[in-house]
Parts: sequence; structure tokens; C-alpha cells
Amino acid sequence: MSDKLETTPGQGIRLYRDLADWYQLLTPVEDYAEEAAFYRRLFETHCQLPPRTLLDLGSGGGHNAAYLKATLACTLVDLEPAMLTLNRQLNPECEHILGDMRSIRLGRTFDNVLVHDAVSYMTTRADLASTIATAFAHTAPGGVAMFDPDYVSGTFEPGTGSGGSDGKGRALRFFEWRWISDTGKEMYVTDMAFLLRDEAGAVEVIHDRHVMGLFPRTVWLDMIAAAGFEPIAIPFEHSSHTESGHELFLGLRRIPGRRI
Ligand SMILES: C[S@@+](CC[C@H](N)C(=O)[O-])C[C@H]1O[C@@H](n2cnc3c(N)ncnc32)[C@H](O)[C@@H]1O
Repeated sequence: MSDKLETTPGQGIRLYRDLADWYQLLTPVEDYAEEAAFYRRLFETHCQLPPRTLLDLGSGGGHNAAYLKATLACTLVDLEPAMLTLNRQLNPECEHILGDMRSIRLGRTFDNVLVHDAVSYMTTRADLASTIATAFAHTAPGGVAMFDPDYVSGTFEPGTGSGGSDGKGRALRFFEWRWISDTGKEMYVTDMAFLLRDEAGAVEVIHDRHVMGLFPRTVWLDMIAAAGFEPIAIPFEHSSHTESGHELFLGLRRIPGRRI
């Protein structure tokens, strides 16, 4: 990878490390109610058994889990300790585990496996295949894995966005800029600028680079099938997706001979 596509050397993605404490002002929990309800319906529709357990790989601040935990016992995995700390505060009744979605093996299975937007951080086909293999290893027979990348290559459009919210005495606003470099690699960049205003009114400006994977939908479907799942693409129009024609992917781990 050329230097210009790397996250800040030695710092990784700052939003999930030293800036994690600001995360809830970037993406408030309330914004997840609608999509979590949609995910729950899909899990319930496609599972061959009534779903009771969920593994969330790359669970971040636990904003989907905050809703899904009402009917599912949730196990929440993330690569960054600071995000798990945040997640524990929001979802103390859930199980939290530090781990990498590409390699973690818990030695047990779940009715549902969710790999939400965090799967967008898989920037090579090898990493994507490893993550899908992790999902398969943890999906019970009759269960469903769900993958919801921010973009696939056919629908990606460069663009910008902005947002943020106010907290107790402090506030965050951000600007994001999505673009594709000329490296020829299957990835795009989201450069984020944060304005962080503290209790005293002082404002700090921070740049944080996120390098994300961008693969054709056929690659997604082929890899989900190659892992052992039956793949399905589901249309999903939601305010969090700026492009039209957004789809998420399901991997069904069928019990042979059994209908839903
Ligand atoms: C946008 S957040 C996820 C938010 C989450 N979907 C929710 O419902 O709140 C992305 C998360 O992916 C995590 N992540 C990135 N790469 C990962 C990996 N290889 N394994 C596990 N987690 C990873 C980051 O640490 C970050 O917490």
C-alpha cells in the first residue's frame, strides 16, 4: 500500500483509540433503532430455529447490540480495548471479548452472527475471506450470518458528509470525505475531520484516516458461498447509506432437509 493510504502511523484509527470517548457524539445510539429492528426481522425470518444468541464481530460502541439484546443474548467482540470499555458501559449485561474478526475462535456457535459496518475495514480479499470463515465457524446449523459493508464497488460514489451532536458540556462536529485513490487496489479512503469542543469552549481539530475495502457484490456472494453458507443479497435503503441500491448480505447455514 502506498504511504498516502495508511492510517496515521503508530496511532491506528484514532476514533477507536484515544478519541473513543467522543464516539457517542459522532454516532448517537438513537440513530440505530431502525436498522437494528430491520436486522432483527431478517434474523428471525431466515433462521431455521428461533434465534436466541448473537455474536457481533467488530461491535464498536455496541449501538446495534443496545437494541438487539432485548431478544438475543449478545457476545460482543472488538479489536480495540477503548471501544470495548465504551461498549461495556452501554451494554453491561452482555459478554465482551477482545479479538480480531479475522482470526478469533471462541469454540462455540451462535444462532446469529452480525458483521456490521466494521467489515468495511477488511481491505484485502484474504482478510475478507478470513472474516467470513470466522463467521461460518461461529454460526450454528440453522443459523444466519449477516454482513453489512458500507459500500460495494458497483454502488460506491465519492462524496462528503457531515454531522455530530452535543453532549454534556461538550460537542463534536465532523466532516467526512470519501474518495478512491489511483493505487488500483480494492479500497477507498474516508478522511474525517473532527471538531472537538470541550467544557471550557476550546476547540481541537483532528484528522483521522480510515482505509476501507471495496469489493464487487459477486465477490461477496462467492466468498460467502465458498465458506459454506447459502448466500443472499437483501436490498436495504436506510438514511445511514448515502448511495442508492445498498444491499446487505446474508449467509444461511442450512440444516439439510429442514425448512424454515
Ligand atoms: C464503526 S465501529 C462499529 C459500530 C457497531 N457496528 C455498532 O453497532 O456500534 C467499527 C469497529 O470495528 C472495529 N474493528 C475494526 N477492525 C476490526 C477487526 N479486524 N476485528 C475486530 N474489530 C475490528 C473497530 O475497532 C471499531 O470499534
